[in-house]
Amino acid sequence: MSKFSYEYYRDILKDGSLPKAFVDLDRFDENVFALQQRSGDKLIRVASKSVRCAALLERVFKAHEQYQGILSFSAPEAAWLASKGFDDIIVAYPVFRPDDIASICPFLKEGKTIVLMTDSPEHIEAIGAVAKKHEVTIPVCIDIDLSTDFGSLHFGVWRSRVKGMGEVDGILDAIKSEPCVKLDSVMGYEAQIAGVGDNVAGQGMKNKVIRYLKKKSIKEIRERRAAVVEGIQARGLELRVVNGGGTGSLESTREEDCVTEVTVGSGFYTPTLFDGYQAFKHAPAAGFALEISRIPKAQTYTCLGGGYIASGGAGKEKLPAPFLPEGAALYDMEGCGEVQTPIQYSGPIELSMGDPVLFRHAKAGELCERFKVLLLIQNGAIVDEVPTYRGEDQCFF
Ligand SMILES: Cc1ncc(COP(=O)(O)O)c(C=O)c1O
Repeated sequence: MSKFSYEYYRDILKDGSLPKAFVDLDRFDENVFALQQRSGDKLIRVASKSVRCAALLERVFKAHEQYQGILSFSAPEAAWLASKGFDDIIVAYPVFRPDDIASICPFLKEGKTIVLMTDSPEHIEAIGAVAKKHEVTIPVCIDIDLSTDFGSLHFGVWRSRVKGMGEVDGILDAIKSEPCVKLDSVMGYEAQIAGVGDNVAGQGMKNKVIRYLKKKSIKEIRERRAAVVEGIQARGLELRVVNGGGTGSLESTREEDCVTEVTVGSGFYTPTLFDGYQAFKHAPAAGFALEISRIPKAQTYTCLGGGYIASGGAGKEKLPAPFLPEGAALYDMEGCGEVQTPIQYSGPIELSMGDPVLFRHAKAGELCERFKVLLLIQNGAIVDEVPTYRGEDQCFF
């Protein structure tokens, strides 16, 4: 029985109940190493939304000193992570509600570094009011838009309205007028490079077009990011951090001199959408196992349970997909179900009632929102069980 084969996992999972979520540590560690290699000499901030398990965040930080700091997805999450001992946390998405902003204040008072995101003077005003009330100084990070417009094609996402120094100056003025807010850093996330596959199976010509657009976009965003960083420095301000990229863009983001650190999250688990990139191939390290509970006809196995469709424009590629046994496939008409998921399989392995079918999600975050515990597998055995955020009663969004 070869390592990582269907039989390998079936044997490991045979004694426990199903469904179960698992992380294969041999592969996870391999990915942690490969991602560190791909990041060149840049520091690496870990995108917690793509891990959602405190024990595995700790494992990444222990693996190599290049991994430093967390890119969190909500202020209450950042506060919770700080309460567990994590530090140097940038909240990647702006928060506006006073309660959310206030959640980080006690930890700032304790000396933790937690930074809030902004792309407008309104954020600064809201943050400043809460900071004043709690008698703390809140550091902020300016999110610059790094999408590229090719004519009417918007290649990127709709997030920040900061295109260049014009908008940055408005934010810097707002910061100047709020005594309890200070500039800490700049982040630019090139989603169209990092999050769009350019070697997707069955996508032929589209892959070529995407590679061409990426090449042009990389050149342009490089100049834009550098112009903002230089502009801020020319105004006599220091930046602790210039953050960029994600799992899918490390090869280009690391080449930017002004970038001090890259972000990595999805690559640790490597969900299916990250199979489709030309520049790298990471190992599928996380998944979930459902039990075959009915066999409605030959070569059709209905599993008990299902999985979440990934965020983003909805298409089949966003569905969780069976990956072991090899050749197993969803039914188009049913997809991955809520409580039952039929699969078609006509390969050489004999499947019986009670056997597992192994699935992967399309994106990294969904797995841990669906399960309270991750089984940790290493060298052919379950070596530990660790709680996901849900397993620690944490549900941010
Ligand atoms: C701001 C930001 N940075 C970086 C990333 C990259 O994360 P990952 O490596 O999980 O794709 C994301 C993902 O959406 C993001 O929103």
